[in-house]
Amino acid sequence: MAEQKATNIVWHQGAVTRADREQMNGHKGCTVWLTGLSGSGKSTIAVDLEKRLWERGVRAYVLDGDNVRHGLNKNLGFSPADRTENIRRIGEVAKLFAEAGVVALTAFISPYRADRDQVRALMQPGDFIEVHVDCPVEVCEQRDVKGLYKKARAGEIKEFTGISAPYEAPLTPELTIRTSEQSVETSARQILQYLEEKGVV
Ligand code: ADX
Repeated sequence: MAEQKATNIVWHQGAVTRADREQMNGHKGCTVWLTGLSGSGKSTIAVDLEKRLWERGVRAYVLDGDNVRHGLNKNLGFSPADRTENIRRIGEVAKLFAEAGVVALTAFISPYRADRDQVRALMQPGDFIEVHVDCPVEVCEQRDVKGLYKKARAGEIKEFTGISAPYEAPLTPELTIRTSEQSVETSARQILQYLEEKGVV
């Protein structure tokens, strides 16, 4: 848990509620939290799903690991503590998106179960939709889209998830998607269907 450093701070309530925002948007806010190994397909699915949602008039927004690490989290690396802080900050951002009535699609490895559970606890019940993007490490390594597994095997990248750092799979995710067995389109549609069933969109 991050330490509360500031004192003498008081929460200020706005005059526009989340319900107002959701009514104007015509759908609910939530976080679709994609978790899985590097190369499992998180970002690809998030981008595809974002487009599908957008075409239906849903305000959706992708938060992606590699992108967020260029800005908000540029001072964080890949040690366990830095990954925890990475996920904590993204969780807070995702919460703001949900309160703004937006569907945030997050694509972070988020390898630690406790970190993901912390984000879940931060959000309203039902807002956190954990999607395990499940793909065997051998398949991710074979894809090696960014050439990082090769570097990790060569010892050029330390603490690489799946090779020299752990990945803790979710125990009870809302959805599991097996990207070695189905297309990007099928995966995106699977999530979309879940959002429809739950009345989010
Ligand atoms: S997380 O573990 O903190 O959730 P995040 O999703 O933000 O990771 O970033 C992962 C991305 O950073 C990977 O897709 C990969 O491109 C890159 N990367 C660089 N070094 C590492 C590493 N040691 N382990 C995992 N990913 C790494």
